[in-house]
Amino acid sequence: MHTKNIYIKTWGCQMNEYDSSMIVTLLQKKNKYLFTKSAENADILILNTCSIREKAQEKVFHQLGRWKKLKNNNPQVIIAVGGCVATQEGKEIFKRANYVDIIFGTQTLHRLPNMISEVEKKRKLSIDISFPKLEKFKYSLEPKKKGYTADISIMEGCNKYCSFCVVPYTRGNEISRPCDDVLFEISILAKQGVREINLLGQNVNAYQGPTFNGKICYFSELIRLVAEIDGIDRIRFTTSNPLEFTDDIIEVYQDTPKLASFLHLPVQSGSNKILNLMKRSYTIEDYQSIVKKLIIARPNIQISSDFIVGFPGESEIDFQQTMSFIKNINFDMSFSFIYSNRPGTPASQMEDYLDIKEKKRRLYLLQNLINIQTMLWSRKMFGSVQSILVEGVSDKNIMHLYGRTENNRIVTFEGSPKMIGEFVDVKIEKIHTHSLKGKLF
Ligand code: SAH
Ligand code: F3S
Repeated sequence: MHTKNIYIKTWGCQMNEYDSSMIVTLLQKKNKYLFTKSAENADILILNTCSIREKAQEKVFHQLGRWKKLKNNNPQVIIAVGGCVATQEGKEIFKRANYVDIIFGTQTLHRLPNMISEVEKKRKLSIDISFPKLEKFKYSLEPKKKGYTADISIMEGCNKYCSFCVVPYTRGNEISRPCDDVLFEISILAKQGVREINLLGQNVNAYQGPTFNGKICYFSELIRLVAEIDGIDRIRFTTSNPLEFTDDIIEVYQDTPKLASFLHLPVQSGSNKILNLMKRSYTIEDYQSIVKKLIIARPNIQISSDFIVGFPGESEIDFQQTMSFIKNINFDMSFSFIYSNRPGTPASQMEDYLDIKEKKRRLYLLQNLINIQTMLWSRKMFGSVQSILVEGVSDKNIMHLYGRTENNRIVTFEGSPKMIGEFVDVKIEKIHTHSLKGKLF
């Protein structure tokens, strides 16, 4: 049988990365495909896209423009576009780039192998951006370890409809995977040597997975069940939402040491006026109260966040409130963005009068403050002993290994390759902003 080369490019969040790895596994199962690292010698080009900000969306059409040239040289080439941009734009993609052959959605990626066969036979646009609930997971095959940490999707979609965000439209409503499927997948990975699990979803704390006996497993219970799995010694999750961050989840920090002392909890703004316009449905006081309780449950917890600057109506005072809030919570390593107007969202109808220069100034000031705080958090680690999950040999020095601390810092240190895949204790001896150097303890 003639094998075909596939090249896949992925943009976006961890959910998109997860989806792409599912696509690779599904297509590899059909023995006729090989994955290649170069687009130039591929027969099938797949773009798994992100539309969270305008820049990400525009990148898609630039990339397609480049691939068009490859198709001009070889008209047999098949181009598939999937993910959030594809779900949102649908046929519009074909109108703007009529050399595209396949448009698949975030929930229909499992149909891609059939769509490819159809195009091979008929050479006609194949499009499916429907939302069959959780169907894609039925096609996911036995999970295979890629490293010592693994991402596991536990839920899809989002019901929150924040006024600026496209996710509810591109990924559909919240739906949780059955609890037993999640645990089964993790146990298989644990047997293969995976030691750290990252539970994925847009709002993992809204997880409500059905169980085999007709009950519902909530997020706090799921974490405890994952912690019971032999071999899994560190648990993370991303992303959670201040809404539904209930006391039972905070209690898990108290009694489950395997849950990392690091939490990414997006706040977006430190101004209640802006939070209200964003339809975030919580106040900064609610957020503060969660953090207070978390610190009681886990005194050494570190918190990172997401921020949007320049949201329509954000005044200098609102911005200053965000800056004070960042100091007040003492956030570590956060992600921050200039507000991007997304067509179809309620915020796109709001008047956005702030000029881009001012938005950039605010972003610069905010990122500067966060960087200082990241550095201060890192400095506090000087001389401390950290538990590191050893991930591999350092690229820069083959005598050195690297791994991550609970608070997501990369640490390099001298050690034996036998330690890869194990937790070791390392004393921190040198501090850089985003990485550290240490010595085995
Ligand atoms: N579930 C997460 C958000 C996921 S989207 C939550 O509860 O907040 C990831 C991040 O992208 C968001 O936290 C937000 O900071 C950013 N983002 C989303 N839409 C955006 C937009 N229109 N403009 C700028 N940033 C945006
Ligand atoms: Fe987006 Fe808000 Fe959901 S930011 S992903 S709509 S919680």
